[in-house]
Amino acid sequence: MKRLNLLVAFAAAGAILTAQPVFAAGNSVMMNDSAVITVGAAQAQEASGGAPGMAAEPSQNSGPAMSQPEQGSGSAVIVAGSSQSSEAEAGTGTEIQSQAPGNDSGSILQPVGPDGAIVPVEEEQKPTEAAQNGRVIDPSKPMVALTFDDGPQSSVGNRIMDVLNQYNGKATFFMVGERVASHAAEVQRMVAEGHEVANHTMNHKYLQKLGAAEIQSQVAKGNDAIEAVCGVRPTILRLPGGNHNATVRANTHMPMIQWSIDTLDWKTRNADKTVAAVLDHVKDGDIILMHELYSQSGDAAVRLIPELTNRGYQLVTVSEMAAAKGQALEAGKIYSSFR
Ligand code: NI
Repeated sequence: MKRLNLLVAFAAAGAILTAQPVFAAGNSVMMNDSAVITVGAAQAQEASGGAPGMAAEPSQNSGPAMSQPEQGSGSAVIVAGSSQSSEAEAGTGTEIQSQAPGNDSGSILQPVGPDGAIVPVEEEQKPTEAAQNGRVIDPSKPMVALTFDDGPQSSVGNRIMDVLNQYNGKATFFMVGERVASHAAEVQRMVAEGHEVANHTMNHKYLQKLGAAEIQSQVAKGNDAIEAVCGVRPTILRLPGGNHNATVRANTHMPMIQWSIDTLDWKTRNADKTVAAVLDHVKDGDIILMHELYSQSGDAAVRLIPELTNRGYQLVTVSEMAAAKGQALEAGKIYSSFR
């Protein structure tokens, strides 16, 4: 297994030192372009490859060709950067290994506005009180994004939010559009409490099996369904199974968010293993994959949230972390961590 945890040297170190982030309103935060590194096709996950690390999800719609890869029983963790297929598809893959341009902002704290955007702070200013509940994201300190797929599932999601509230943390929920109407109050709570509502397609179909029009429909209908119940249209997408090909990448028209720690919670259904999968590997900038459907995943989350906080990690949404790390989220590109 070839480790592809890239590469990213910043060519223009001088530019990084001088370029200050320009924060825009809304979820998309623009940074100096030099901070965004587009890597060639080395990490493209191809549907036919069946490589370890693919389809690490419940195989709700999987056909025989997409059967779950066998994982070694001793390891519950896949680090996406090291386990994805290296099957190259020249010129088409775009995997961004996010690398922050160093924390040249020093100790400046960046408050988060109600819409999740980082509020610009003048360099000369002292840290200001956060706009929301006294919450401040400090880009110079470690952070992780907890992400929960396949919900909403009120019985689990509400427990997770209860504990996040106690620790002033936020999470990202990648939801299946066809489920949201049945859990509307929970989705509305996510918005009210500052979590990120995100798209996991309308019907959790594996998009690499679909044509362009169907891919676009799955994405659009997912966004529509979520927006209809909570008033917020998602700005990020997680692909079912994490699976993609060139047609998928060309037709989602959204930033696609993978992960850097796969807890395999859906498979083990064991809170101890899920907790260990995170705590044994977690580092700054990780995107942690869990699933909202399972009570054991909720059990794990309610243990992880205090412990990660205790270890000094800020619990932030995906969009918050991208902003804090100075990464623009661009439609059609794939992100698996923000370093
Ligand atoms: Ni899923």
